[in-house]
Amino acid sequence: MLRRVSLLALAVFVVGCGGAEAAPTTPTSSPLPPPPPTVAVVTVSPTTGSLVPGESQLLTAVARDAAGTAIAGATFTWSSSSVSVATVASDGRATALTPGTTTISATSGAVSATALLTVNEGGLIAVSGGTVTALNGQLRLEIPAGALTAPTAFVVRPVAAPTPNARLLAGTAVAITPAITFATPATVRLRYPTALAADVVETQLRIGRLTDTTWQTFAVVAPDRVNRTAAARVTGTGTLAVFAPPPSLRGYAQRRSFDIGAAVSVDALRADSTYRRVLAEEFNSVTLENAMKFGPIHPAATTYAFANADTIVGFAVANNMKVYGHVLLWHTQQPAWLTDGTPTRAFLLSSLKSHIETVVARYAGKTTSWDVANEMIADNGTGLRRSFWIEVAGADIIDSAFVWARRSDPNARLFLSDYSVETVNRKSDSLFALATRLKAAGVPIDGVGLQGHFMLPTPSAAQLTANLARFAAAGLDIRYTEIDVRLMDGTDNLAVQGSAYGTIIDACLAQPRCKSLTTWGFTDKYSWIPGTFPGFGRALPFDQLFGPKPAYLTLRDALARP
Ligand code: XIL
Repeated sequence: MLRRVSLLALAVFVVGCGGAEAAPTTPTSSPLPPPPPTVAVVTVSPTTGSLVPGESQLLTAVARDAAGTAIAGATFTWSSSSVSVATVASDGRATALTPGTTTISATSGAVSATALLTVNEGGLIAVSGGTVTALNGQLRLEIPAGALTAPTAFVVRPVAAPTPNARLLAGTAVAITPAITFATPATVRLRYPTALAADVVETQLRIGRLTDTTWQTFAVVAPDRVNRTAAARVTGTGTLAVFAPPPSLRGYAQRRSFDIGAAVSVDALRADSTYRRVLAEEFNSVTLENAMKFGPIHPAATTYAFANADTIVGFAVANNMKVYGHVLLWHTQQPAWLTDGTPTRAFLLSSLKSHIETVVARYAGKTTSWDVANEMIADNGTGLRRSFWIEVAGADIIDSAFVWARRSDPNARLFLSDYSVETVNRKSDSLFALATRLKAAGVPIDGVGLQGHFMLPTPSAAQLTANLARFAAAGLDIRYTEIDVRLMDGTDNLAVQGSAYGTIIDACLAQPRCKSLTTWGFTDKYSWIPGTFPGFGRALPFDQLFGPKPAYLTLRDALARP
């Protein structure tokens, strides 16, 4: 009020002092400029952005009136909700500073719009979103279609909460789907989270389809642990995935040229994708649990049934695993056509010969070894088992089996295997006598397989070592071919079982002629033990849910030791 009064007084004073009358104002013909239109809507584009520190991106904003018409010359005030993540200049240019997210706002009049800006780790485009699953120790991140474009690089972050039974410190897999074409070689880089770096054994960069068996590994690279990176140049078309496998039995075994194997059930392999995944991740060799046995693979005199064996062999080849053939001459799981009636020596010899020639030749080049003769020693340990083969055809059928096998696949290593022969005892003495007799006779035998179906208490390290040593000294390789350590139901002795597995593998690792250990199955879900030894079970390194047991860890620790 006071101010208005004084202005009025001033005006009166001026007019009063002017003397001359002011000329009348000439009315203009042009209309007054229209009032600025009211902003009804603001839009910002793009609405999301992804930058790395140091990069900037121009955001544009448009203001519209209620009729939807763009307002020319509208001005905007820009702001960033987190200026430590990114700042935004008055022209809408956002500059990324540190990893994080920030909301960029453009305001005109009383109306705002926002864009969400993500700042990723330096130099790499981070994968965000997608689903994380933790299974069998592998953390898998599936990225939604369109989330990334190629060529690109991406960051693998540790994932906080694996599901039960997943191994912590697990490997991480990143998959980009759908198919991406790397027309020109692109560098794919993987950066390990610090927490994983020490434990990553290898990095596999693979291209293929997101199914278990069709991955084609196009690069397996040793990670740079100091910089926590692995990189490979890639070209090709397909879905790209980067796998940083968890520290696996296979990874550590590979580094020391050791075969770590499992017997494979074709039913489980077909039905259970978890089984397939763990098998391929953890083992570098397979033995066919049943599919190559005489009865299953040769059910009628002139009929072979290869489908199951082909399935297992195909899986192994696709996953770069060795195949151990099992078994040619054995007294069980034989077809009725062979054993019915009163077969003659000539019939058994010719049947076995053509069987070996057919089966061994079919898988030549894929099988690296064969259990040629199995369980030849009598259970009381004195000499040969009086099986139908030996009774009817005579002991030299063993010699012949090795000769036929060698001729059918000259590159396969040929083994004689048995059970309850892991220590120096009467039965292993007989096995030793047979093996050395064959070798001395010039029969093509490369080694012996000690099955190793144990129950507690298992033999001591010294007992195992002494037995391995005598076969090695005789110029024979030794393998543990069917390891399991069965536990009585209702007992809680997984730790004891774990150290038993450790003792067994340590004995093998300490013996230069022992370069292979196979477990008979790998998960308690599909073990033969409960069905064959009622009241016993839990014999294998993985539990029924594929969770690693103490036995798994002792095996892995042993393989990991320099
Ligand atoms: C077992 C399989 O595990 C079972 O599935 C099958 O019913 C019987 O044979 N020694 C061997 C293996 O050499 O072939 C046996 O495998 C286990 C004992």
